[in-house]
Parts: sequence; structure tokens; C-alpha cells
Amino acid sequence: SQRTLVLLKPDAVRRGLTGEIISRIERKADWRITALELRTLGREILEQHYGEHVGRPFYEPLMEFMASGPVVALIVEGERVIEGVRQLAGPTDPIAAAPGSIRGDFGVIVRENLIHASDSAESAEREVKLFFPGLA
Ligand code: GTP
Ligand code: MG
Repeated sequence: SQRTLVLLKPDAVRRGLTGEIISRIERKADWRITALELRTLGREILEQHYGEHVGRPFYEPLMEFMASGPVVALIVEGERVIEGVRQLAGPTDPIAAAPGSIRGDFGVIVRENLIHASDSAESAEREVKLFFPGLA
């Protein structure tokens, strides 16, 4: 089976949606939460996490938003969990995301799209190490 790194972004925490989102993940057959932490992210970890987007016009506002309040960081393990959490989340733009998905049900703004989930096995390994170095 696989593991993936999930972040419930500051908008999800501020709006009191973490329980709802975690519940959707937990109810999937076979998936397990194996780490969970509430923390406020600093510049350093965010630069490593979103390094692929340096120089894009949305990069600085994204960094500011991601540091604007605590996030909930989780490791989720289970069958096909990398693709599966991305599917639960829906596309990056919440208006393009179908109702029934997390972003489609709760989001409007592209930046404030509630949830991050690793997008490949390579990203998942890197991000799990970055956020939970003791569990790598
Ligand atoms: P993450 O799981 O957060 O990585 O989202 P993603 O994989 O669906 O999208 P991507 O990695 O391409 O972008 C990272 C984050 O930057 C997105 O989740 C958005 O919050 C933000 N973002 C991406 N593209 C845009 C954009 O065109 N405009 C704005 N304002 N924000 C964007
Ligand atoms: Mg991404």
C-alpha cells in the first residue's frame, strides 16, 4: 500500500472544516491516519514544499496564505491513497471541482482550496520526510 502527505490548509482550519474533511478521508475503506499534527508553517518549510512554483505569479500570495494560520498535517496510508485523496479533493480550482469533492463542496477561491495532497509517489516520499522527519 501507499502513504501520502495531506495538509488541511489555513482556510479549512479557520472555517472549522477539519473534522468534515478528515471524516471523508477516514471513511474510505482500508485507509488509515498514521500521523496528525496542528502546526503553523514557517517560510522555510513552505519554500521546500512549494519549490516547484517559485517564480509563478501566485507563489508569494500562496506562501503568505499558507503561513496565515495553523494547518493540520496528516500522513494517510492505504490502498491507492495518493491518487485517492487527490480524487476526494478535486481539481485545484474549486469552481472546476465537482460537487461531492472537498474543493467542489467548500471552495470558491483558487488559492484557498482547503486541502493539499501529494501528487505522486515521489512527492509523497519527499513531503512525508519534510513534514514528519521522524517517521521517514
Ligand atoms: P496542492 O495540493 O496545494 O499542491 O494543490 P494542487 O496540486 O492542486 O495545485 P498546484 O500544486 O498546481 O498549486 C499549488 C497551490 O497553489 C494550489 O493549491 C493553489 O492554492 C495555488 N495555485 C495554483 N495555481 C494557481 C493559480 O493559477 N492562481 C492562484 N491564485 N493560485 C494558484
Ligand atoms: Mg500540488
